Amino acid sequence: MSDAVADGAKSMEELVSLCKRRGFIFPASEIYGGLNGFWDYGPLGVQLKKNLADRWWRDMTLTPPLREGKPVSIVGVDSSIIQNPRVWEASGHVGGFSDPMVDCTETKFRYRADHLVCIGEKGDTSGQIYVHIEDDDETYAAARKKLDKYKKRSLANEEIDTCPFVSLSAEERAIAVGPHAKAPGTLTEPRAFNLMFQTYVGATASEDDKAYLRPETAQGIFLNFANVTDTSRVRVPFGIAQVGKAFRNEVTPRNFIFRSREFEQMEMEFFCHKDDAQQWLDYWVAERKRWWNSIGLSDDNMIVRKHDDDELAHYSKNGAGTYDIEYRWPFTHPGFGELEGVAHRSNFDLSQHKEHSKKKLEYFDQERNERYLPDVIEPAAGLTRGVLALLCEAFTPDESRASKVVMKFKPSMAPIKAAVYPLVNKDGMPEVAEKLVRELRGRSGHMGLIEFDPKQSIGKRYARMDEAGCPVCFTIDGDTMSDQTVTYRDRDTLAQDRIAIDKVGDWLDEKLRS
Ligand code: GAP
Repeated sequence: MSDAVADGAKSMEELVSLCKRRGFIFPASEIYGGLNGFWDYGPLGVQLKKNLADRWWRDMTLTPPLREGKPVSIVGVDSSIIQNPRVWEASGHVGGFSDPMVDCTETKFRYRADHLVCIGEKGDTSGQIYVHIEDDDETYAAARKKLDKYKKRSLANEEIDTCPFVSLSAEERAIAVGPHAKAPGTLTEPRAFNLMFQTYVGATASEDDKAYLRPETAQGIFLNFANVTDTSRVRVPFGIAQVGKAFRNEVTPRNFIFRSREFEQMEMEFFCHKDDAQQWLDYWVAERKRWWNSIGLSDDNMIVRKHDDDELAHYSKNGAGTYDIEYRWPFTHPGFGELEGVAHRSNFDLSQHKEHSKKKLEYFDQERNERYLPDVIEPAAGLTRGVLALLCEAFTPDESRASKVVMKFKPSMAPIKAAVYPLVNKDGMPEVAEKLVRELRGRSGHMGLIEFDPKQSIGKRYARMDEAGCPVCFTIDGDTMSDQTVTYRDRDTLAQDRIAIDKVGDWLDEKLRS
């Protein structure tokens, strides 16, 4: 990963190192050298991910948002990761879910064609064109250096022509040097590469048994549309929500957990009459941005971007479109990159499944006395990508602290809610601390860990909690034994004050509401 940090951007390298050091996220199968695009979540990472998923589930299905003063109606499902393979023919994933891929015959590296950008004299076939990966500072710097060297003069005052690799002519490709290659002309023509992982169901492993790991959770919702309307009291407009794993054999997994091959999604399909779809699209775009803000992402670090017509997915209704809620990631800084998509899918999926399964999927709307396939508005968020956004937002370098960095999670999202420390591991202090830990763990209503640690200097213990993003530490000291008060230390302000030990539980509950 690049060490180059754009002005004002946080360092991904330092964040990845903190995640490893503190037990948020580890490379998967690390002792065997890892596996590109796969990640494991450690004790703090799994709790952070769970907090985010639980909060989304709560705010979608248990206390859904209001529209015109009334709660919108949303129910949940949990569908299989492996479905009948015909599902993915109907959904368009077998035919259309592919990335254009370019191979380098010299280095054997593989790139997404649409991520390759050229630096050079486009049109000048006597020169050399150097190719780098979009948003990759390292290959950009290397490509520029090679170009400088090639021309043997400074380019400081010259315009560098940049253009997408895919727009090069065959002649220009012959003189293009790949991002990690030495010789020109080693990049192949772009080829379509299907992103679905394949497997076999049953013992024979013949072509007929071929199945796919789902590349999105959405289809499991469409498959159960009729089951849900037949068995529950929901009426259009309503939503079905699902959280779960999805798998994509990404050509270039990169930027830590941002684009991985196994990841989790939080998707909701909102079914409505086609005449109301545009209003619901506007509603969900605003609502989802508000939600991310409510769990700690600053408004300054988010934008809403409407897709251009040429980037719309195969299911998205032309004209009405898709919006992305984008976050200012350290690796896109000062620009933004996708966090969640909110798409107008029209009735594409239901009509495809109706046609392929030959089952009636129309909904009878009693109020309108009309039978129809509802349109769908889909807020589709990445859970693991959301975890990365929370980590990036929380990461706050602070040279004045022993830890040099503090993770400023919102208390409601923090994996460790509080730490309870005896100042020294004797004189009855550990026993008092353990009693307080039991009381705090026994309180319901806040999802998170209560840390107990009787060893090490108190400064080192505070520093660990700053890196873990624990909002408050309570310390049992000599005074506690006489006046029944403890010291609390606030992670963000570093303020320290005393509070009666029997008030700690209520005080913490209040703090965790933010
Ligand atoms: N059902 C629509 C759908 O899946 P998408 O934009 O491909 O749309 C939705 O995915 C969200 O899932 C993205 O906004 C992103 O947050 C997350 N996501 C997609 N691919 C991912 C990957 N390879 N790694 C991590 N998260 C990913």
